Amino acid sequence: MPDTAQLELELLRDIAAARDEASLEAVRVAALGKNGSITALLKTLGTLQPEERKAQGPSINGLKDRVNAALAARRDEFKSATLEARLNTEGVDVTLPVRETAAEIGRVHPITQVIDELTTIFADMGFAVAEGPDIETDDYNFTKLNFPQDHPAREMQDTFFFNPKPDGSRLLLRTHTSPVQVRTMLSQKPPIRVICPGRTYRCDSDQTHTPMFHQVEGVVIDKGSHLGHLKWILAEFCKAFFEVDHVNMRFRPSFFPFTEPSLEVDIQCRRDKGEIRFGEGDDWLEILGCGMVHPNVLKNCGLDPDAYQGFAWGMGIDRIAMLKYGMADLRAFFEADVRWLSHYGFRPLDLPTLAGGLSS
Ligand code: DAH
Repeated sequence: MPDTAQLELELLRDIAAARDEASLEAVRVAALGKNGSITALLKTLGTLQPEERKAQGPSINGLKDRVNAALAARRDEFKSATLEARLNTEGVDVTLPVRETAAEIGRVHPITQVIDELTTIFADMGFAVAEGPDIETDDYNFTKLNFPQDHPAREMQDTFFFNPKPDGSRLLLRTHTSPVQVRTMLSQKPPIRVICPGRTYRCDSDQTHTPMFHQVEGVVIDKGSHLGHLKWILAEFCKAFFEVDHVNMRFRPSFFPFTEPSLEVDIQCRRDKGEIRFGEGDDWLEILGCGMVHPNVLKNCGLDPDAYQGFAWGMGIDRIAMLKYGMADLRAFFEADVRWLSHYGFRPLDLPTLAGGLSS
C-alpha cells in the first residue's frame, strides 16, 4: 500500500521550497510527468482489483488534485511577484508634458487664418469667393476700372510692370484685387455677391508696406443695391471679425476712379499701452475704401447702368490681421521665421467658425 500521505507531505514541501518557475516545473515533472511519482501511482490503479481500486482511486486522485492546486497556487505567487517587480521598475510619470506630433506642432499663418475668418463671416452673409490671376492685363487692372489712359492714378499705385510685348501692351502684377470685380461681372449674371481675397503687389517697402501684400475685395451688383446695404454689411463684418458687440464707423468722402461716390471707412478705437480696442475710445482707424460701382465700370463690363447698380469695397488683409492680433511689423509676415510663426500662428485643427469662435 503506497504511503500517499507521506508523498503528499514531501511534494507540498518541495512546492513550497521552489524558488522560481523553473524549479517549480521540476517538482511538477517529478510528480506528474511521464515518470512522475503520482503518475506511477495512477498507473497502479489499472492493475488493482475493483475493491482495492475503489479504496485507492479517490486517495490517489485526491493527492493529484491537491498537488495540482498547490502547484497552481505557487505559480500564481511567482506571477504576482514578477508583476509587482515590473510595476515597481516601470513607472510612468504622467506629469511629463505630452510630446506633440508634427501635425500638432505645425502652425497656420495669421494671413491664412484671417482669410479663413473673413471667408467664414462673408459666406454666412451669402457671399461666394471669386479668384483671379496675380498677373493681370493693364485693361483689367486699370482701364475697365475707369482709370483714364495716362492718368496719374496708374502711377499712384507703384505698379510692377512686365516688359512690353511686341504690340506694346504690358502685363503687370495686379496692384489691387479690384480686377477680380471686372472678371466676375464679365463672367456672371447679376445678382452678384462675391468676395475676392488674394495677393496684390506694389513697389513699396517699410514697416507697414511690403511689395506683396493681401487684399479682400467685396462686390454686390443687383437692381436695388445701395449704400445702406454696404454700411450694414461692413458693420456686421467688423463686429464679427473683431469679436466685439458694437463698433462705431465713420464714412469719409474719398476718390477712387471705379466708384462714385467713393468713401473711406474708419472704425472707432482706443489705443492703450500698445493695444488697440474697438467699439470704444475717441481715436479713428482707417480700414477700407468703398463706394457705389461707377456706371462706367458697369458699362465696361457689359452691364446696363440704368438697370443695375452695386457697391464694392477693398480692404487690406495684412492690416486687419495686424490690428486684430497685435503684430507691429508687417515684414515679419513674410520672413518665415518659425519662432514668430509658433508664437503668432494658429493650430491647424482649430478651424474658425461663427458658432465655435473665430480665433478660439
Ligand atoms: N482697390 C482699392 C485700393 O487698392 C481699394 C478699393 C477701394 C476697392 C474702393 C474697392 C473700392 O472695391 O470700392 O486701394
